[in-house]
Amino acid sequence: MSKHHEVVLHIENLSKDYQVGFLKKRTARALDHLSLDVRRGEIFGFLGPNGAGKTTTLKILMRLIFPTAGQACILGKALDDSAMRTRIGYLPENPYFYDYLSGRELLEYSAALFGIPKAAAHQRAAELLQLVGLDEERANRQMRKYSKGMLQRIGIAQALVNDPEIVFMDEPMSGLDPIGRREVRDLMLALREQRKTVFFSSHILSDVEAMCDRAAILSAGKLLRCGTVQELTGEEDAAFEVIAVGLNPETFAALSKALPYAAAIHLTPNGAHFILHDESRFADAIKAVQNLGGKVISINPKRASLEDLFAAAAPSSAVEASA
Ligand SMILES: Nc1ncnc2c1ncn2[C@@H]1O[C@H](COP(=O)(O)OP(=O)(O)OP(=O)(O)O)[C@@H](O)[C@H]1O
Ligand SMILES: [Mg+2]
Repeated sequence: MSKHHEVVLHIENLSKDYQVGFLKKRTARALDHLSLDVRRGEIFGFLGPNGAGKTTTLKILMRLIFPTAGQACILGKALDDSAMRTRIGYLPENPYFYDYLSGRELLEYSAALFGIPKAAAHQRAAELLQLVGLDEERANRQMRKYSKGMLQRIGIAQALVNDPEIVFMDEPMSGLDPIGRREVRDLMLALREQRKTVFFSSHILSDVEAMCDRAAILSAGKLLRCGTVQELTGEEDAAFEVIAVGLNPETFAALSKALPYAAAIHLTPNGAHFILHDESRFADAIKAVQNLGGKVISINPKRASLEDLFAAAAPSSAVEASA
C-alpha cells in the first residue's frame, strides 16, 4: 500500500449495546457492525442525524466506553496502546473544563500533561490561542466566563496541544456562529495542509460538503454510505432541472399533458420548472414548451445534496434489541 493511502483509522465490525431501562432491563443497540477506514491526510466527515451513534463511536475510539463487539485501530495500533495516544487529539462533544482556569492555563496544563517543558508549553499555548482566534484578554479570562463559542475554540486548541497526527472532533462546529464555523473549516483545511488527518462528526451538512475528502453516513447505528462527497451525492439517478419562461398560468394543465415524462412540474411567476430523468427527452421537452408559447432557458444536472441523503436516512432511533 502506498504511503499516500496509509490507513490511519481502521474500524471493523464495531457494535455497542447500551443497557437501558431500570426495572425491566433491555439492551439498545447504538452501533451496529460499523466498519470503515480513514487514510492519512484526509478530512473525514462522520455524518448522521441525532442519535445515529457518532458520539458512541468516538467514545469507543477514545476508550471512554468499551465496544460490545468488534475492534478498531488507530495509527496501526490497538486502542489501548498508550504511545499511540500521545499522537492523537480529541475534542469531546460538550467540552467541559475546570471553570476557574483561564483558557491559557488550560492549554499550558494540557501541554504539561504531554510532558512539554514549561517554556515550550507557554509558547505552544500562545500559538494555539492565536490559531483558534482567542485574543489576549479572552485567553486570560476564567473559562466560567466563556461563551459557548469560546469554549468550543479552547476545546479545539486543547485537542491540538500535542500536535497530533490525527484529531478526532465531535461536533466541532457546534455552538459557533457562521463566522466561527468558517474559521473552524479553515482551521481543518490548514491541518490538512500539514498532512494531519481530521475525523469529525457533524449533522451540519453544508460544512461537510464544502471541505471533506470523504464522508460516512450513519443512521440508527448502521453505516449507510461511505465515499467522496461526489460519490455520495452522484449515485442517485440522473436528473436534470429544466427552467422555462414565457408560460402563463392557464397553460399548466396543457403543460403537464404535453410533458407526461417530466416530474415535479412547478409553475413560477412567468414560467415553470420541472425534472427530466432522461437526456433523450430534452428535444421533445424544448419543443413542447415552445408549442405553448414558452422558451426553455436552462437545463441543469441536479445532484442530490447530502441533505437529500440525510433526509432519506432519517428517521433514526437506536434499534431495540430485546434482551
Ligand atoms: N449512556 C447511554 N445509555 C443508553 N443509551 C445511550 C447512551 N448513550 C447513548 N445512547 C443511545 O445510543 C444512541 C446513539 O447515541 P449517540 O450519542 O452516539 O448519537 P449521536 O450520533 O452522537 O447523536 P447526536 O447527534 O445527538 O450527538 C442513541 O439512541 C442514544 O440514545
Ligand atoms: Mg453526539
